[in-house]
Amino acid sequence: MSETADIVTPDAAAEMNTRRVFVKTYGCQMNVYDSQRMADALGADGYVETATPDDADMVLLNTCHIREKAAEKVYSELGRLRNLRDRRRAAGSDLIIGVAGCVAQAEGEEIIRRAPVVDFVIGPQTYHRLPQVVGRARDGEKVVETDYAVEDKFEHLPARDERQVRSRGVTAFLTVQEGCDKFCTFCVVPYTRGAEVSRSVAQIVTEARALVAAGVREITLLGQNVNAWHGEGPDGSEWGLGRLLHKLARIDGLARLRYTTSHPRDMDDALIAAHRDLDCLMPYLHLPVQAGSDRILKAMNRRHTADEYRKLIDRIRDARPDIALSGDFIVGFPGETDADFEDTMRLIRDVGYAQAFSFKYSPRPGTPGADLGDQVAEPVKDARLQRLQALLLEQQAAFMTALAGRTISVLLEKPGREQGQLVGRSPWLQPVVCDETVGKIGDIVDVRINRASANSLIADQREVEPPA
Ligand code: SAH
Ligand code: SF4
Ligand code: F3S
Repeated sequence: MSETADIVTPDAAAEMNTRRVFVKTYGCQMNVYDSQRMADALGADGYVETATPDDADMVLLNTCHIREKAAEKVYSELGRLRNLRDRRRAAGSDLIIGVAGCVAQAEGEEIIRRAPVVDFVIGPQTYHRLPQVVGRARDGEKVVETDYAVEDKFEHLPARDERQVRSRGVTAFLTVQEGCDKFCTFCVVPYTRGAEVSRSVAQIVTEARALVAAGVREITLLGQNVNAWHGEGPDGSEWGLGRLLHKLARIDGLARLRYTTSHPRDMDDALIAAHRDLDCLMPYLHLPVQAGSDRILKAMNRRHTADEYRKLIDRIRDARPDIALSGDFIVGFPGETDADFEDTMRLIRDVGYAQAFSFKYSPRPGTPGADLGDQVAEPVKDARLQRLQALLLEQQAAFMTALAGRTISVLLEKPGREQGQLVGRSPWLQPVVCDETVGKIGDIVDVRINRASANSLIADQREVEPPA
């Protein structure tokens, strides 16, 4: 239909020139945040995000290296993408394939050796250079960009795009700290994310204000060790996370604050006090302990004992009695005996978790744990994980069932699975299924919990007024 070519509207023309990027995210919330920032950076370069690789001109995998399974997923995905690209080329078009995230940082050019379909590899510290890297890849160069950048990535990324933020909903992540100096002996993060870096108060407040201006009601501050955040304040002095939370709590329109993930060693008094003093700081804390045996904690280089953790939990609960605790656990760290494992089970019973994540130890290349003798046999890990998860699930169910009959405040986030439903979050992070008559997305409403299902809470329907 060449005769219509001269009446193509500017919008349609723009549409025809638009390139599409599909970003697939693995791993932790920091990767979710990074994927958004990368999409925004590519947006400034003319790319729009698409929800499927099928109509994409570029696929970007944002990868995770934390356990072997996570890292291997990337290669199976790259296998599928190779097929997609072969079909594209056969049809006369093309597909650019990039790998970002922690596998990119850990494996670098090895990725291109193992999967030649990959056009570029970019590490988490250099995302501000993404448009330039993509440009080179489009020109046919294989690019590997995994140096730790000397310039501050955050200073060089484009500001948050209001339209994009709005389209992502009423809750948002905000990375305030990256990297890790703790070197737990099982963990790759200090190698994939580098040394701890804290963003300044000014940067964080500016970004938080932009999020709120775009309709965000709840912000979760992120860092691999978020409670070790120590950024430069407006007066040039060093602030801690407690003080930062007080500052953010004063932003008009920001209703809820959360932060994750924290290390027990970095829960200072000011942060614990913030849980007592700030209503908008939600009563939920993810505070991984990994194990309950002092011997194993020491071998993991966690630098605290099980009893120090118990005492810390007591102090936090004194400050905020209704706080819900969440944790991470590893079973089968090298040398873990039955008695060590029972210590972990005892710690879980002592603390009582509302929610938790648990994993079998996975030896990671380059970490001290991988070289330890006395690796635990797979079936032993399986059996321990099963018992541990059964206990944690029991605690989760108990926590949720105890909310039945209570009226709680819920931030309404999105439409539910069924017509007429909205889903929100409780202060303790459980999804709450509500009737749509309770309010609109972005509202914080009080609803009465009727019952708990496996993973969510079901609110009563609003009573229908009898006809007058
Ligand atoms: N910074 C956080 C943890 C980030 S990694 C902290 O210190 O708690 C998220 C979780 O993955 C860890 O808490 C740990 O439970 C798990 N994990 C990390 N490395 C692992 C490994 N090699 N094998 C199994 N689980 C691991
Ligand atoms: Fe990994 Fe330990 Fe750092 Fe957490 S504190 S990211 S587990 S090294
Ligand atoms: Fe995975 Fe990297 Fe996060 S290893 S857990 S994506 S910091």
